[in-house]
Amino acid sequence: MGDMLVKLYQLPETESAKQYAARTGITVRRAIGPELVTVAEWVEKRFGKGWRSECEIAFARQPIACLIAVKEGELLGFACYDATCRGFFGPTGVDEQTRGLGIGKLLLSETLLAMRDYGYAYAIIGGAGPIDFYKHTVGALEIEQPEPGIYTGMLKLV
Ligand SMILES: CC(C)(COP(=O)(O)OP(=O)(O)OC[C@H]1O[C@@H](n2cnc3c(N)ncnc32)[C@H](O)[C@@H]1OP(=O)(O)O)[C@@H](O)C(=O)NCCC(=O)NCCS
Repeated sequence: MGDMLVKLYQLPETESAKQYAARTGITVRRAIGPELVTVAEWVEKRFGKGWRSECEIAFARQPIACLIAVKEGELLGFACYDATCRGFFGPTGVDEQTRGLGIGKLLLSETLLAMRDYGYAYAIIGGAGPIDFYKHTVGALEIEQPEPGIYTGMLKLV
C-alpha cells in the first residue's frame, strides 16, 4: 500500500455537510473531547488498535483533528488528519452497514477542507488502501516508490 497526494487548492466541488445533512439526516462534523472514548472504542472494534491509537492522537490535537459522521446520536464513521504525521489524512472508516451512502466521501472532503483551512497545500493519504476511492472522489495521485512507507517496521499490534 503506497501513499497518495491530494491538491487541497484544487478540490472538486462537492455537496456541503449542511446539504448532505438536510438530505440524509447524517451530520458530519468535528468531534469534541467528551466523545473520545466512544469514538476510540468504536474504531478499535471495527478497525483495530492501530487505528484507535491514531484516533486518540487526533483527539489530543486542538482543534481536534477527527471528524465524525453521526445519525441520531449513533456514530457511523470517522476520519482523522495529522495523526501519524503532519499533513497526513487518515485513518478513516465507515460502519459496514452504512457504506455506499456517501458518508466516506463527505468525511474525506470535509477533512480535506479542514486541512486546507489549517494551511496545508497538499494532503498525503498514508498507506492508502482503497486507491480507486481516493482517485474517484478527490482526484488523488499515487506517489511512486511506495516502500519503505511510514508504517514500515512498525511493532506488531497485540
Ligand atoms: C473506503 C470507505 C471509507 C468508503 O466509504 P463509503 O461511505 O462506503 O463511500 P461513499 O459511499 O462515500 O463512496 C463515494 C464514492 O466512492 C466510490 N467508492 C466507495 N468505495 C470505493 C472503493 N473501495 N473503490 C472505488 N470506489 C469506491 C463509491 O462508489 C462512490 O462513487 P459515486 O460518488 O460515483 O457514487 C469505506 O469503504 C470503508 O470504511 N472501508 C474500510 C476502511 C478503509 O479501507 N479505509 C481507508 C483507509 S486508507
